Amino acid sequence: MERTHQNVEKILFHETTILARLDELAWEITQEYEGKNLTVIAILHGGIMFMADLLRRIPLPLKMETITVSSYHGGTTSSGTVTFHQDKLPNLKGEHVLLLDDILDTGRTLKTIGEKIAEQCDPTSVRSCVLLDKKVARVVDQEASFVGFEVGNEFVIGYGLDYEGRYRNLPYIGVLKEEVYYS
Ligand code: IMP
Ligand code: MG
Repeated sequence: MERTHQNVEKILFHETTILARLDELAWEITQEYEGKNLTVIAILHGGIMFMADLLRRIPLPLKMETITVSSYHGGTTSSGTVTFHQDKLPNLKGEHVLLLDDILDTGRTLKTIGEKIAEQCDPTSVRSCVLLDKKVARVVDQEASFVGFEVGNEFVIGYGLDYEGRYRNLPYIGVLKEEVYYS
């Protein structure tokens, strides 16, 4: 078992639990996109661990792209604006696009990126896959086609998810102690 970091209140998903769920998600995605041109776009930095572990379980000749955005400007609340950190988007004509993100929270990030890609890159389809779904926090109308786990309205860290840039490297997903952001 992993050593729990002192700022983690409790572990929600251990590494073994995450990887077992990725096996199932990878199977679902493989069934869905078999025989189709698939481009997976991971949203950085949060989607980085998820991308690496999930895509190695999908035996399709997919293309891999990344896109860097930020929607948090410090703290534990979403800023409401999504900032793109690159000016060139990939050419996606004829491609089925699957966006990968660590967590679907208010929904603004995936909605903004999905709409921009659909308008500017001419893909055949755009869908999304998230490791975590924080359903109760949704502000805009946005769902994901593939979901790893549902979580409650708690601030979680680890396995790609950060608090002010830290903790992404924890191998598990845990709840951040409130005293860390209230002190
Ligand atoms: P949304 O635009 O509100 O759906 O936010 C999505 C982004 O906010 C994710 O890609 C994460 O980077 C970040 N985020 C939302 N909830 C959490 C959390 O509980 N822990 C860490 N990051 C989060
Ligand atoms: Mg983040």
